[in-house]
Amino acid sequence: MRGVWISLNSRCWLSLFVFALMAAPLSLRVLAQTTEPFKADLVIRADQPQFTINRNIYGQFAEHLGRDIYDGLWVGENSPIPNTRGIRNDVVAALKRLNVPIVRWPGGCFADEYHWRDGIGPRDKRPQRLNTWWGGVIETNAFGTHEFMDFCELIGAEPYIAGNVGNGTPQEFLEWVEYMTSDSDSTLANLRRQNGREKPWKVKYFAVGNEPWGCGGNMRAEYYADLFRRYGTFIKSYSGNTVQRVASGGPPSDYNWTETLMNLAGRQMQGYSLHYYTLPTGNWDKKGSATEFGEAEWHKTLERTLRMDELIGKHTAVMDKHDPQKRVGLIVDEWGTWYDAAPGKDQGALYQQNSLRDAIAAAINLNIFQKHADRVQMANIAQMINVLQAMILTDKEKILLTPTYHVFEMYKVHQGATLIPTELTAPDYKFGQDSIPSLHASASRDAAGRLHLSIVNLDPNHAAQVTTKIMGMSAKNVTGRVLTAPVMNAINTFDKPETVKPAPFTSFKIEGDQIMLTLPSKSVVVLEFQ
Ligand code: AHR
Repeated sequence: MRGVWISLNSRCWLSLFVFALMAAPLSLRVLAQTTEPFKADLVIRADQPQFTINRNIYGQFAEHLGRDIYDGLWVGENSPIPNTRGIRNDVVAALKRLNVPIVRWPGGCFADEYHWRDGIGPRDKRPQRLNTWWGGVIETNAFGTHEFMDFCELIGAEPYIAGNVGNGTPQEFLEWVEYMTSDSDSTLANLRRQNGREKPWKVKYFAVGNEPWGCGGNMRAEYYADLFRRYGTFIKSYSGNTVQRVASGGPPSDYNWTETLMNLAGRQMQGYSLHYYTLPTGNWDKKGSATEFGEAEWHKTLERTLRMDELIGKHTAVMDKHDPQKRVGLIVDEWGTWYDAAPGKDQGALYQQNSLRDAIAAAINLNIFQKHADRVQMANIAQMINVLQAMILTDKEKILLTPTYHVFEMYKVHQGATLIPTELTAPDYKFGQDSIPSLHASASRDAAGRLHLSIVNLDPNHAAQVTTKIMGMSAKNVTGRVLTAPVMNAINTFDKPETVKPAPFTSFKIEGDQIMLTLPSKSVVVLEFQ
């Protein structure tokens, strides 16, 4: 019998396979079909360079919320956790590897009840306040202006400050900016010196409130437009520091808010913000789980992530009407996935796990920001540590890097580079009645002339065979990395922190002027062409 099997030629094997397949139950046949790679074509227009990708698109956001600041980055000088002036060394080292360009602080909703004078001077004299937005916990104010600026300097990032319009005053705006940036002999500049900082800091971006339509004061667009003009007047430039005023956008798809703000206050602003979160269900009462999900939720989450493109496109169209020169930057200063807090976890702390699905969502968003980089001047993922779509999770002395962290690390090659257009032809990824693109790509060329491609395979079942052509360059070699995992909901845990991490990418063949790439299903790939 064994001999018979061995002597079967390949045609017989094929007939046997087809016969077995036809006889197999439908589910098995579907499985056999679904594991076939799909084919796609990609043209990279290196001959048509576009605009500069502002590196601030790779910005972060840290709010006094849950364990983002306290535990996450601040442990205090007396902590057994290794730190520099109270700031965790492990977190600083990890963030430095991302080249974080800018960090938004202190909120979020928290910003509109934060009074900056609470957070300066000797720490044991700082007031204890209630953090009414986030769990009613005690805010010790141990982390204030000096600590934040110290943190920014440690990781090499710029500060982006959000001022309090909700229950603060224009006087606080005036004084905070003077305290931080004036090199004069004024009482406020000397107070800063007395508190340990001789030289002023540079503060290039200052937001006039946060979500004034909601937690920032439940305002109407017309009323906020006037407040923006009033508060913005008292943000002044001292000692060679020039501050850009960022106005708050409305709810994600409120284009009328954008119209009103651009009309009434467009000339006074240098930036205009957009917030958009990806909820798998789109329902704030039952958002969906971070880790317990199947393909239906995977597909919906990515579909909702892709909405960012439409939102930016439509807000840009309104802004273009008032500001065709694109002087005002669109600042997407809150974005990311938002799930139900894990059962048993503090619901006010917004702690969530981060899976391969989040990595795919992050990569799509970053590709979208790059596509719109002529208008999008900054983006800040929410949030940096232990909150929402975080880079880093901490547990006392332990830290882990999330799949989203790895995307930011892989994508840093695009920071400050020139956008190169890409043309993709690929089948849709369908689930039930819904279709979304199966691939999502972006390319750039850096100052040293290196061409980088980031490409995402959204399909969790099929690899992609991508025939790639580069116009205006002939590639002799390809290097890069791939981020994927065996299952959609793979996560890193404190026990297994390296389940999802980048690996070298070697699945390519160069054939004449074409490069054949094979992308695994559910993967993010970043390549450099030489
Ligand atoms: O990022 C969490 C919260 O979401 C922010 O504080 C607020 O601005 C937004 O609604």
